[in-house]
Amino acid sequence: MFEHVDAYAGDPIFSLVEQFMKDPRENKVNLTIGFYFDEDGKVPNFSSVDKAKVWAADNLPASPVYLPMDGLPDYRVAVKSLAFGDAMPLVDSRLASTQSLGGSGALKVGADLLKRYFPDSELWVSDPTWENHHSIFKGAGVKVNTYRYYNPQTKMLDFSGMLEDLNQLPERAIVLLHPCCHNPTGIDLTNEQWQQVVDVVKQRNLLAFFDMAYQGFGFGLNEDTQAIKLMAESGQPFLLAQSFSKIFSLYSERVGALYVVCESPETAETIQGQLKFTVRTNYSTPPSFGARLVNHVLASDALTDEWKTELEAMRERMHTMRQQLVAKLGELRPDVDFSYLATQVGMFSYTGFSPEQIKRLKDEFGVYLIASGRMCVAGLNTRNIDATAKAFAAVC
Ligand code: LMR
Repeated sequence: MFEHVDAYAGDPIFSLVEQFMKDPRENKVNLTIGFYFDEDGKVPNFSSVDKAKVWAADNLPASPVYLPMDGLPDYRVAVKSLAFGDAMPLVDSRLASTQSLGGSGALKVGADLLKRYFPDSELWVSDPTWENHHSIFKGAGVKVNTYRYYNPQTKMLDFSGMLEDLNQLPERAIVLLHPCCHNPTGIDLTNEQWQQVVDVVKQRNLLAFFDMAYQGFGFGLNEDTQAIKLMAESGQPFLLAQSFSKIFSLYSERVGALYVVCESPETAETIQGQLKFTVRTNYSTPPSFGARLVNHVLASDALTDEWKTELEAMRERMHTMRQQLVAKLGELRPDVDFSYLATQVGMFSYTGFSPEQIKRLKDEFGVYLIASGRMCVAGLNTRNIDATAKAFAAVC
């Protein structure tokens, strides 16, 4: 019965993590998956979220019935304010939203919805993008194409190439955009560049789909939503996937949200119904625990302040690690310019290393990066940064 089924080649990120776990070398360095590791190399819990867990232990609902298809109502209100900030008044009346299974679940619900009502629209993602963007949209039956983004020669953004490609897309083409902390390159657009992208999206009547998994890891919670605010100001309908895996360290709880900013309150109501239907036909209703935690933190000023302080400390630690790595590389290899690693932002950097260099880093030095050359900066700490710099310097 199942003999015709192809073997799964494995996910490029998760497979590498498995390899890393099996590696017996003591000084191995994990710069693979997008987990925030602290200075001790552990994935930490936020103390604000821990307090929410203590609260939850005594305050879970008396009857553990299903949540509504589109999730916990209070949670949906709390998290939209975080995503849209002071642009809320521009979108609130024309917003449809649903709680989702992390950012990936939001992308999947959005992809299914778009496939149903825009069957001829294709998706354009940045070259490169997070590998799973391709898989999720292909899995929903959407054809996936790329627009220029990263220039391997300059190790910088190819902004003119990006604009040129977006300017050639047919009306209603879907464009996947990373509003902050681009995964995998760590190269973000400036606000001026975002304005130009928003103008093209509006002029050509494209459908932007933002994927925001790292809000607050770039320049700050508010600063990281500038692209979303500009799109909101433009009046153009768009979609936004939001994830709380990294920024609340709730990876396994699968907490996120999907927003569809519509053209009118009436269409938003219709889309709200279709979001429920899409959820119902995928997994029926979402789990509640993670959403209750996020909602509890965001509903309390004291816990929100505590969470923001913790998030800021994470951002600053990653920033410091970047600076230190570049400084150490500068001493070891003054002949090579590594300054681009310091100007990239967020959890990831694109090293520009070739697959051969990545293989040498793993085989000879036990330093694990994704085959594309992506490094998870949060995997660096004061104990492994020297070894990492030496390994980088040796393979260049
Ligand atoms: C990553 O890009 O490493 C993370 O988003 C984890 C994942 O799901 O791939």
